[in-house]
Amino acid sequence: MKLIHSNKELNQAITQARSQGKRIGFVPTMGALHKGHLSLVSIAKAHADFVVVSVFVNPLQFNEGEDFDKYPRSIGQDARLLTDNQVDVLYAPSAQEIYPKDFEIPRLLAGALGEKYEGAARPGHFDGMLTVVSRLFDLVKPDIAVFGEKDAQQVALVTQLLNSQIRSGRRSPMALKIGPTVREESGLALSSRNVRLSDSEKQVAQSLSRALFAGAKAGSNGETIKSTALGLLDPEAKLEYLELVDALSFEPISSIGPNPARLIIAAQVGKVRLIDNVLIDGKK
Ligand code: PAJ
Repeated sequence: MKLIHSNKELNQAITQARSQGKRIGFVPTMGALHKGHLSLVSIAKAHADFVVVSVFVNPLQFNEGEDFDKYPRSIGQDARLLTDNQVDVLYAPSAQEIYPKDFEIPRLLAGALGEKYEGAARPGHFDGMLTVVSRLFDLVKPDIAVFGEKDAQQVALVTQLLNSQIRSGRRSPMALKIGPTVREESGLALSSRNVRLSDSEKQVAQSLSRALFAGAKAGSNGETIKSTALGLLDPEAKLEYLELVDALSFEPISSIGPNPARLIIAAQVGKVRLIDNVLIDGKK
């Protein structure tokens, strides 16, 4: 595996792979890699011949007082894991490569979908996320990119952006693949932030997925689904939102209809903010 820090070297590696007729697969991350990220790498490998993983903790998607400084960084271990997983390139740029001082990178706006739930809790987060994802797509020019269902609202927004960029001719066609959420045996969704949970906080964190799974089995009435989930949430978890939404639009729904729905949750456990979700099939 090649560890690359500069756009120039990245461009050379991509150009060479393309000249050999290889399909480029891309997994954007912020590092502190775990099995959830690695599951996306294996999906990329299944659909492409040359896999690039980026590690960049994007300052633009954290706002004041958020955990940008505390976000775990472990580039040495990340590089070892990616080497073991036969990744071709680990692209770990500096902020200067992504946001150069001498030319303006257009700041993207996530719009209405970006202002709900995660967007409401973290103003500007999705604008920053879309801005960096679009910039990374411009640099890597992948044939396919892989994202995790764990961040379902992020997936909805990236899908929306990509469709509009491809439709307008701003970007060459490329595919998105979505990987299922990888969980611990307890059900806790793997997250880079979990390393900041104490043992007792981890017990509390496990109640998020228990709540979602129970809610998803509680029939089709939205209030019943939510109250069942709430009943299983550890009282030590500070709930931010628990909502039943349409899986595509993220509009709240009062019951499961013909379309797929998602039960989404965010809660603060100790100093760590956690999110999770489950898909609930539509009732045909
Ligand atoms: P990060 O949180 O590092 O996540 C990188 C990718 O891994 C995302 O697509 C995320 O949904 C996925 N992922 C995280 N936990 C997962 C799990 N338990 N199972 C499966 N996939 C999981 O999401 C970001 O970084 C950033 O917003 C980024 C897209 C890189 C832009 O900065």
